[in-house]
Amino acid sequence: MSEAQSIQWFPGHMTKTKRQIEKSLRLVDAAAEIIDARIPVSSRNPILNNLIQNKPRVILMNKCDMADPVQTARWVEFYRSRGIPALPIDCKTGKNLNGFIPLVRNVLSEQIARWESKGMVGRPIRVMVVGIPNVGKSSLINRLSKNSKANVEDRPGVTRSNQWFTIGKGFELLDTPGVLWPKFDDKNVGERLAFTGAVKDEVVDTEGLAARLLEVLRDRYPAALRQRYKLEEIEGLKGYELLEMIGKKRGMLISGGEIDTERASIMVLDEFRGAKIGRITLEQVGESNGLAGL
Ligand code: G4P
Repeated sequence: MSEAQSIQWFPGHMTKTKRQIEKSLRLVDAAAEIIDARIPVSSRNPILNNLIQNKPRVILMNKCDMADPVQTARWVEFYRSRGIPALPIDCKTGKNLNGFIPLVRNVLSEQIARWESKGMVGRPIRVMVVGIPNVGKSSLINRLSKNSKANVEDRPGVTRSNQWFTIGKGFELLDTPGVLWPKFDDKNVGERLAFTGAVKDEVVDTEGLAARLLEVLRDRYPAALRQRYKLEEIEGLKGYELLEMIGKKRGMLISGGEIDTERASIMVLDEFRGAKIGRITLEQVGESNGLAGL
């Protein structure tokens, strides 16, 4: 578990975080918002738009290796239609990361042209990464900053914990990401964050969570679910019934021949999180799932 995952958000902490991010945003030309491609709605922070205001922004749809490619492409189109360039990426393998600098240059193209017209040629472009815990911020920064040195020249905004990586010619990345909280007052959002493992399992009922996930998969990805667990008819079955069927198929029994649904739950959640059930996206463009205010 990453350190960021153990962050407990409380009002005072949120206010401090908000101030820190506002401060960092003043140092950069653009923000790179990183989201989880499997839950493009739930993995966003509720006040980010407000924080970013008119600062140019790009969206990085991370973990696209585990998301449904058809849905990811729809989301990219959706963001583009709203003027935000988006890029599906995979920080595990580094896929598409070479598109990051061109993406930011694209969103800043007018500004860059203005700088050039004023003779400010070679002015570095500075960017910071923001996102909720566990979405892949550290993985992204580590990948992008590989082989590059932190720039420690004397300049406003450069402190020991606030340095810049040169990740391309004339292109700098703030070494610390902005860690934001998710929208956890919404039950569906909380549930989806728990499905993906963004929220710790100790705080949730594992069997209940796995049963709910199975119902969601039954409705959204029935073929993948049937295939993974060699199930026949699943339409109309309740989550617990599916869990029992799966436990039985996998021979997960406890003494007396009862099905070990606890073990089956852990397995189902692990397999979902490892994309073994398939490449799955739980939120689609056009659903009424709190997209307002993008
Ligand atoms: P954070 O800084 O935003 O909190 O996220 P972090 O980079 O720590 O990533 C959280 C988890 O997500 C890590 O797994 C990381 O390996 C994984 N991850 C990040 N990007 C991708 C991606 O594009 N695809 C996949 N499949 N996984 C990704 P972990 O289990 O916490 O650690 P580990 O297994 O890497 O040791």
